[in-house]
Amino acid sequence: MSTTSFTPRVFSGIQPSGGLTLGNYLGAIKRFVDMQGPDFETVYCMVDLHAISVWQDPAALAHNTRELCAGFIAAGIDPEKSILINQSQVPEHAQLGWIFNCVARMGWMQRMTQFKDKAGKNAQNVSLGLFGYPALMAADILVYHATHVPVGEDQKQHLELTRDIAAKFNHDYGVDFFPITEPVIEGAATRVMSLRDGSKKMSKSDPSDASRINMTDDADTIAKKIRKAKTDPDALPSEAKGLEDRPEARNLVNIYASLSDQSVDQVLGEVGGQQFGTFKPKLAELAVSKLSPISSEMARLMNDPSEIDRILSHGAARAREITAPILRQTYEIVGMVGPV
Ligand code: AMP
Ligand code: TRP
Repeated sequence: MSTTSFTPRVFSGIQPSGGLTLGNYLGAIKRFVDMQGPDFETVYCMVDLHAISVWQDPAALAHNTRELCAGFIAAGIDPEKSILINQSQVPEHAQLGWIFNCVARMGWMQRMTQFKDKAGKNAQNVSLGLFGYPALMAADILVYHATHVPVGEDQKQHLELTRDIAAKFNHDYGVDFFPITEPVIEGAATRVMSLRDGSKKMSKSDPSDASRINMTDDADTIAKKIRKAKTDPDALPSEAKGLEDRPEARNLVNIYASLSDQSVDQVLGEVGGQQFGTFKPKLAELAVSKLSPISSEMARLMNDPSEIDRILSHGAARAREITAPILRQTYEIVGMVGPV
């Protein structure tokens, strides 16, 4: 089954669970911005219902939702061009999520590596929501009949599950109703690694603040973290092949390539042969020049939270024009008796 008969539509989401990192920016938000335009309708979401699969302080959740919205706008998401929402204001996400709980199989969910990583040894004591999370994620996407989903590498397995859920629903009800969504995992920075350990993903939950660049870090902090980033003693190679067994070096080059909109080979053509003592200050300067306008704009937007709330309720109204009819048709397909 192809997605060609569906309107080209992009959906993606980020959890408002506190703090945005350079990984979120390069792996997700920057690409959300690039996909705005004539080729797609774009819907971007703060997934607050997902966030509470792990306990969130209520005041912090509200603050983080607004701050994430400010981050999206500051990075270049235009709330007129794109539909910008928080998940809980569009109730069809949760409603379709229930239907998908009844489509997804236990065995599929048990294979999800993100659940296994997050639950760890504590699997009996985490919320049922954390386990069911990927079915709600599938609903987020499919309640828009979205055809393309830009995400970082870590979400690939969840998108495969989304395709499985769509295919099983279509098969079980004998319809061609949900599209088989395409993951969009592209560019030099689909997996930004920790600055302290090139084998670990850069993450907002890493206990070491030095391991990541936060979108709200000031210029001095960014420069210091890059200067201290773990590297090896060799000079930079002049071709991508030379980065194969050098995860820390590869990570810094990938970040440079992504921030400057170049390929890794173009970057190495420019900096190949240089020592890190020369390359790191260049990278720091580039990172500061790209990130500090975003963080100062975020801070400015956060001075007027009522404007952010207005943008989110406007987004929800626009979203529901898409989601309400899709949910109604889903209910009809499933056999739910509706209002007359
Ligand atoms: P999360 O912060 O886990 O809600 O992730 C939001 C988005 O950012 C998802 O599309 C992730 O794939 C992406 N993302 C998070 N961390 C990284 C990273 N270190 N490198 C690339 N993408 C990332
Ligand atoms: N699971 C994603 C994450 O942890 C967030 C997310 C929820 C999402 N729903 C989505 C991403 C739908 C893309 C599409 O990062």
